[in-house]
Amino acid sequence: MIRTLAAPLLLAALLGSAHAGDPAMEAHPPKTDISALPPVGDVWKDSNPYRGNAAVVDTGRALYNESCAVCHGTDVNHKNQVGPNLLRLHRGCRKVTEPDLQLRCLSDVDHYFVKTVRKGKRVLDVQHMPPWDNVLTQEAVWAIKTFIEARIDEDARIKAQGKTAAR
Ligand code: HEC
Repeated sequence: MIRTLAAPLLLAALLGSAHAGDPAMEAHPPKTDISALPPVGDVWKDSNPYRGNAAVVDTGRALYNESCAVCHGTDVNHKNQVGPNLLRLHRGCRKVTEPDLQLRCLSDVDHYFVKTVRKGKRVLDVQHMPPWDNVLTQEAVWAIKTFIEARIDEDARIKAQGKTAAR
């Protein structure tokens, strides 16, 4: 209970007057060229249509660093940022070993990701994250998610190597 109440208040303090007139609180259309992203269509997908598509990662990285890094850390290198660590988005799914269930788990995370990015985050009347609906296209949002997934994989590899080296 204390945690649920304290987190928004702490964030409000950290963000200060971020909701009113802070440039980071406004979602600006990205300058990154997204014309090379494969078209996904107008209807929002339930899960990431680019998952595993290495060709979209660089565009996703550029979009992420342009639009999200200010609060979630450059290249998702999360240190002392106001936003949560997005490398932890899939942590619940890692424990799921059955392939079908794991896909469903990832799809749930995708759904949450898209909802959060499109609507932003607002808690107790304090805007924590701006809404990106109609600012980022569906292609741009999934490219960002694909880049974050590549970073999650990279992070897991580095951690696994660290464990082997420590043996
Ligand atoms: C102005 C700062 C800011 C910007 C810019 C921003 N975010 Fe956030 N984001 C936050 C904060 C703060 C939270 C946590 C809000 C909360 O839980 O109340 C958050 C939460 C999230 C979450 C939910 C994470 C979780 O663990 O529940 C996702 C996903 C997310 N942001 C993705 C993005 C993406 C993608 C972008 C770029 C398109 C972006 N954010 C841009 C501040 C920002």
